[in-house]
Amino acid sequence: MNDKPFAPSCERNRDPILEVLQPALRDARSVLEIGSGTGQHAVHFAAALPQLTWQTSERAEHLPGIVQWLDEAALPNTPAPIPLDVADGPWPQARFDAVFTANTLHIMGWPQVQAFFAGVDGVLGEAGTLAVYGPFNYGGAYTSESNAQFDDWLKARDPVSAIRDFETVDALARGIGLRLAQDHAMPANNRLVVWRRG
Ligand SMILES: C[S@@+](CC[C@H](N)C(=O)[O-])C[C@H]1O[C@@H](n2cnc3c(N)ncnc32)[C@H](O)[C@@H]1O
Repeated sequence: MNDKPFAPSCERNRDPILEVLQPALRDARSVLEIGSGTGQHAVHFAAALPQLTWQTSERAEHLPGIVQWLDEAALPNTPAPIPLDVADGPWPQARFDAVFTANTLHIMGWPQVQAFFAGVDGVLGEAGTLAVYGPFNYGGAYTSESNAQFDDWLKARDPVSAIRDFETVDALARGIGLRLAQDHAMPANNRLVVWRRG
């Protein structure tokens, strides 16, 4: 019986995300993924980017599902997932060439988003890349009616969740020495934002 956790959205967005990550992570050799969810993204991206070591991480309750995906794929470049809650840690001692996260900043509360950037500051190398996929607002406005409805749904589910303002997230990124490199429009009114250090 195959009872791996499965997110249909990952199947839809993985190839458009990969198209951006391929050039953005060309010079990277190690990636820390934060909030890896099911592990589907990790398996897809690590298989397509064999020069990278793709380190998954998640809150502890999600780790068994990620292990199932990684074990089945048996890739040489996906070490076992590590437990990581951005607010509680434990943040790895190691440094990574890149950090990737998908669909997490609008799920976390704002203090956790701040903790995310504080933690990224410690794990990202001097010429590191941060890539964040998900919905953003610009100039205080939704980019689509569907994102406005999604935000209502998020807040009804958990009042701390919200689609984040790009400008406030960019300010956090600048606060840890990152500069905006690319802001890609993605399918379904999402964005893939790439910041770089150095
Ligand atoms: C909507 S899911 C996205 C999962 C996956 N990245 C994807 O795109 O399918 C949001 C994820 O954020 C994780 N998350 C929420 N708060 C977190 C925190 N404080 N620290 C680390 N991960 C967190 C959740 O455990 C969940 O797996």
